[in-house]
Amino acid sequence: MSKIKTIGVVTSGGDAPGMNAAVRAVVRAGIHYGFSILGVRKGYEGLLRGDIVEMSLRSVGDIIHRGGTSLQTARSAEFATAEGVKKAISIAKVFGMDALIVIGGDGSFRGLLDLSKYGLATMGIPGTIDNDIACTEYTIGFDTALNTVQDAIDKIRDTAYSHDRCSVLEVMGRKAGYIALNVGISGGAEAVILPEKEFDIDKDIIKPIMEGRNRGKKHYLVVIAEGVGGAGEVAQYIEEKTDIKSRATILGHIQRGGSPTVYDRVMASRMGAYAVKLLHEGVTNRIIALQKGALVNFDVQEALAMKKTIDKDMIELSKILAM
Ligand code: F6P
Repeated sequence: MSKIKTIGVVTSGGDAPGMNAAVRAVVRAGIHYGFSILGVRKGYEGLLRGDIVEMSLRSVGDIIHRGGTSLQTARSAEFATAEGVKKAISIAKVFGMDALIVIGGDGSFRGLLDLSKYGLATMGIPGTIDNDIACTEYTIGFDTALNTVQDAIDKIRDTAYSHDRCSVLEVMGRKAGYIALNVGISGGAEAVILPEKEFDIDKDIIKPIMEGRNRGKKHYLVVIAEGVGGAGEVAQYIEEKTDIKSRATILGHIQRGGSPTVYDRVMASRMGAYAVKLLHEGVTNRIIALQKGALVNFDVQEALAMKKTIDKDMIELSKILAM
């Protein structure tokens, strides 16, 4: 059983829809198990400044449906240094924090590992729209982001149809193409360009568009992951090569906002409560993950060493269905 009495919770890195649901679950499950819960505001930056508040059952009321993170977040340069980590440990001690639950991505988990080396008990919950954390099949925010992009694609298709145009859409994902691949399939794109796979603009974009035109298609969608980028140049190239009027849209931060989907709320609630349950059982320094539908946990170092690969069958499917 655990010696931990007080748990801190922080959201770190890029915000993701569902982070609020995860914080709510940590606070309410934590209080259920008898822990005191501290909310660290503005990511690791807030930890360094002692921007820490006592959380109660009511302080997480009315947030489950909200996008963003009510604790706010930041990317901290100071925390990335050895001095920053030591300072964070000393501030945690000042507030009597025995453990810290971090909701964020890989970068945030590296910070977690540093903190655990100084004896702070830690727990990581995967929260990023990119779904790019290797140890887990799912990260909080991914489903909401996919639905936001899909909504944009449906709107873009209306105007592409009306003008017989080609739309080139650039979506987020940092160095990963999970958002692009999924919306490429759900949005019926003629081509999906991913950072995980080398591409040839003539073979992978121009050819399927021209073949589609020969079969009677009049409007087209190309999805490009931000890890590849260059939507504007691609649209220009398509227009020059095919005479099809083309427009580029870079969706940007709209993909990070919005009310979380049911899936994200439930997943965040499950992951948040599971992280607290593990601490209650005396298990520390783990990253929560979803594997084959079940929640599991990995040692932080082990989790960070894992490599994520993109599903080749999904890439193949996106091509077959683009006909
Ligand atoms: O990790 C989430 C994400 O939205 C990425 O898809 C994107 O590359 C990055 O964050 C953008 O970061 P920022 O909001 O700091 O510009």
